[in-house]
Order: sequence, then C-alpha cells, then structure tokens
Amino acid sequence: MSPILETMEVFRIVGGARLAGEVRVTGAKNSVLKLMAAALLAEGTTTLREVPDILDVDYMAELLRRLGCDVIRDRENRTVAITVPEMPSHQADYDLVRKLRASINVLGPLLARCGQADVALPGGDNIGSRGLDMHVAGLERLGATVHSEHGFLIARRDERLRGASIWLDFPSVGATENLLMAAVLALGTTVIDNAAREPEIVDICTMLQSMGAQISGVGTSTLEIVGVDILQPTDHTTVPDRLVAGTWAVGAVMTRGDITIHNAVSGHLEIALSKLADAGAQIDLMDNGFRVRCDTRPKAVDVVTLPYPGFPTDLQPHFIAMNSIASGAALVTENLFEARFRFVNEMVRLGADVRTDGHHAMVRGRTSLSGAPVEAADIRAGAGLVLAGLVAEGMTTVYEPHHIDRGYEGFVADLVRLGADVTRVFVDERI
Ligand code: UD1
Repeated sequence: MSPILETMEVFRIVGGARLAGEVRVTGAKNSVLKLMAAALLAEGTTTLREVPDILDVDYMAELLRRLGCDVIRDRENRTVAITVPEMPSHQADYDLVRKLRASINVLGPLLARCGQADVALPGGDNIGSRGLDMHVAGLERLGATVHSEHGFLIARRDERLRGASIWLDFPSVGATENLLMAAVLALGTTVIDNAAREPEIVDICTMLQSMGAQISGVGTSTLEIVGVDILQPTDHTTVPDRLVAGTWAVGAVMTRGDITIHNAVSGHLEIALSKLADAGAQIDLMDNGFRVRCDTRPKAVDVVTLPYPGFPTDLQPHFIAMNSIASGAALVTENLFEARFRFVNEMVRLGADVRTDGHHAMVRGRTSLSGAPVEAADIRAGAGLVLAGLVAEGMTTVYEPHHIDRGYEGFVADLVRLGADVTRVFVDERI
C-alpha cells in the first residue's frame, strides 16, 4: 500500500534567543471584527483604520460581501472601506461562520436593519462550549423572535425592536456587542446591566456614537442606549490590540529580553503588566506604548482569569508558559473557557510541570524546557506554545499555525526582527 503524504505548514523554532528591539501593534482583532459588523447599521461607506492583516478580517470581509456590501481592503494603509447597500441580505452561511465565530456579531445589526437575520450556528476557536443563550434572551427582550432550525439561528422582528431592560447573567463580550448593535436602532431606551467592559466594547461604543447612536455609561457595566431612527456611516480607528501587546510583554520577560511596544495602551493591560512586574520585569510607560525588560529568571505568579478589568483569559496560556520556566510554583485559575487548559498537554510535551484540576492549573517552574513537536489548538494557545518554544532547548515544531495567523499579523517576521530563530516551513507527513 502506498503511503499518503500530506503537506502542511508549521512553525520551526530554535530555542535560546533573547527578544530585543521594537514592535508596533495594530488594531485589535477582537474589536475590528465587530466594527466591521457594526458598519452594517448604516447605508453608505464606513472606513475602518488600523485594521490588522489577519485571516479573520478576510473571513469577515467575505461575509460582508455575501451580505451585499462592497469591501475594499488597503493592506498597506491598514484600512477597510465597507459600502453597505440600502438593504443588505440577511443570511450568513455555515461555510464562513464555521471559520469565524465572530460572524455571530452580524446577528444584532442585521436584525435591526433588515428585520431578519439567519446566521449559521458558529464554530470558531476550540476553546470549549460557548453558549449563545444571552444573545438570544436579550434579542427576545427587545421584541425579536429567535429559534434555531437546520443549523441556523433565525431571528425575526415584525415591527421595530423596542427598548428594554436587559440583565446579563454574565458580562459576555459577544452578547453585549450584539445587543448594543440591535438596541441602537430600537424604539426607546435599552439598559444593559452587567454589560462587558472590555476596551473592545468601549471601541464599538465610540464608533456607534460617531455614527449617531446615543449611548451612555460607556466603559461601565450599565449601558444605556436611546434608540435613533437612522445611523450614518463613519470613519473610525480601531483600538490597539492589547492581547498582541501582552504577548510581546510576556515574550520579553520569558526570554530575559527588552522590547519596546508601540501603539499599545498600558491601561488596558493593568493587571497583566503588574503580574509581570511581580515576576521581576521592569516596565516603563511611554506615550503610546511601553517597554518591558527582564534580566533575571522570572518568578512564578498566580493568575485568575476574569472579565475585564480582570486578568484576560486570552493571556492565560502565555502566563502558563512563563510560569513553566519561572522560579517557584503558581496556581492559574481559568474562569471563562475551561477547555483553554487543553493546551497544557502540549506544554507537558515540552517538559513543563503542569497539573490541572477543573478550573485550576498548578505550574511548577523548571529550569528548562525541551523542544518537541506540538499542536496549536487555538490562537492564544498557539502564541503560548511559540513563547515556550523560544525558551525550550533545541527545536520546537508548532503544527496548525494557521490558528496563530488568525490573530497575529506578521508574527514570525516580528519575532525574527526581535532576534528569534523562527521559520515557517512546509513539511510532508506520512498519514
Ligand atoms: C470574546 C473574545 C475572546 C475572549 C472572550 C472573553 C472575540 C472574537 N473573542 O469571546 O477572545 O476570550 O471574549 O474575554 O471577541 N456565554 C454563555 N452564553 C452566552 C454568551 C457567552 O454561556 O450567551 C459564556 C461562554 O460560553 C464563555 C463565557 O460566557 O464561557 C464568555 O463568553 P463571551 O464573553 O461572550 O466571549 P466571546 O464574545 O465569545
């Protein structure tokens, strides 16, 4: 029987380099995808700036095109111009939605604008079950009917949505965004209590306000939205990506390096940076960025993930990677996506001493890790594994790096500029 060969791309990392130099962060993935969906709320051309050149933006652009929008990307200038027709179509199909969970964010704007939205139930990151119950219950409070059929979530309204009081059981980022985008065109006042407060929520509120929406309480857990009849297209600059900035900060500490991170907001990373300072880093704040350096072995630090302003779940893998080579032991508690700990199995392949029990991971720092083949299961786990590979002895091969490409623009090129030995290569594998 002849063997089947499969060609796949991997990241090859030779450990031991120190990251030093300057990087510039672009707009946040977790913001821009929602800003693109928000453009649907107004007929005409909305321009978004500081748009990262990542795969998820390509998927969202394709989704908007299928809804009838004209989407022009200028990668060099980092802009996307979205021209929305008077009446977009209202169906988001599974082939795209399964690649991009954030597709669910077209639900609120399509329902508000078109009176109907059929969105395939999403897939997205492999990070555990991510319910949509709060999205659905909130839209129903606004007067919509929502049901699922043949793999689609189908939302309808017979008349204009009506403002209502909505209490979220949990400050869900996605539900807050969808309900905001539905409420801005509703009749009357909507209050969203226990709303998410992430910088990306503030960003979408700022964009909606510039389109003519009336929102108060921005940045707090109570958002009050007075619906308006019509919104105007706008020109908006995406908030910098705090998770990419955080990745570089942890990379500097793990490699005992020195990185100056431009276009980053230190205030959006307050707890993460203070944890790095506890680990032994020196952090200097600058206008529009910060510098992180460390010249000793980091000390292990406990971390508990929580909704913003708590410690971000998206940086949890990075801190497990850092703790695994730190002095001492640390307890990492994951409160948002329990399946994020799946990445621990890959860390163990690199020689890390990590044990999980439910929501907790006990990490005992080792003096070294040893390079091995590992698999990136999602964006952030992938970034955590790359950081671990940078400090592991010998070669680490990260499989499925397309997950990393979904969230990090030019990651390998930036790593190389900072001094790392990382290459993208194609390998043949017998299956
Ligand atoms: C967003 C981010 C993700 C980040 C997360 C938390 C994007 C594209 N992704 O994801 O990177 O890790 O915020 O900061 O912006 N939940 C329900 N029912 C709902 C909604 C959510 O049970 O109706 C649960 C989810 O299963 C999850 C938790 O709430 O356990 C957090 O979800 P949510 O805040 O909505 O995160 P996302 O918007 O999916």
